[in-house]
Amino acid sequence: MATLGVNVDHIATIRQARAESEPDPVQAAVLAELAGASGITAHLREDRRHIQDRDIYILKQVVKTHLNLEMAPVTEMVNIAVDVLPYMVTLVPEKRQEKTTEGGLPVREREKELAEIVENFRSHNILVSLFIDPDINEVKAAKKTGATHIELHTGYYANSSGITAISEELGKLKDCAMAANKLGLHINAGHGLNYRNVGSVAQVDYIEELNIGHSIIARAALSGMESAVRDMIALI
Ligand code: PXP
Repeated sequence: MATLGVNVDHIATIRQARAESEPDPVQAAVLAELAGASGITAHLREDRRHIQDRDIYILKQVVKTHLNLEMAPVTEMVNIAVDVLPYMVTLVPEKRQEKTTEGGLPVREREKELAEIVENFRSHNILVSLFIDPDINEVKAAKKTGATHIELHTGYYANSSGITAISEELGKLKDCAMAANKLGLHINAGHGLNYRNVGSVAQVDYIEELNIGHSIIARAALSGMESAVRDMIALI
């Protein structure tokens, strides 16, 4: 059965909108763990648009499950990760203009460079996961880098519409998960999963953890609205 890793980036997005200290993604991580999350994910982007360096260092101290640091495979982030020593890093491509991670890592194109980064992390006992498109050739290339984990990009599945397209995208996830399992890789998946589309992905064999952020933070904001308003009225 797959477990849930909660991505707390969007708590930081709300904080950064006002450059205040609240809401704190570290507190959100603690609450997520208390609710049963099996891991916490945070993406330290090069432009620091949401998660800040301070968040990663404190998350490393307080997370009791496991911390998955999402990052671009660039020297600045590698140096931070080696200093923080998270349980796992998930390497993702990063484009400055994108609203969120748009595609998987082009592993075949960057195999040698990624293998060197993986080896560096391995020497520091940090597990490495590569965020890849659901493409068998990318799965094979990921294995060749020495990474022990992959995260299958579920965004194509999440964004597809119509029964045929949805089942095609789901089929790609199933095929890649099976192929990755045969290669001895651990398989996570995520991106764009929500309360309506998660069920089918949760049933895909061999997927160990689903990393979900936006839909959980969106629901938390609304489901907490009534009590937040009541609390403020009581004070007024
Ligand atoms: N996995 C990866 C690699 C991501 O980049 C993201 C988005 O930060 C997620 C999972 C979570 O996606 P979402 O916020 O759409 O649930």
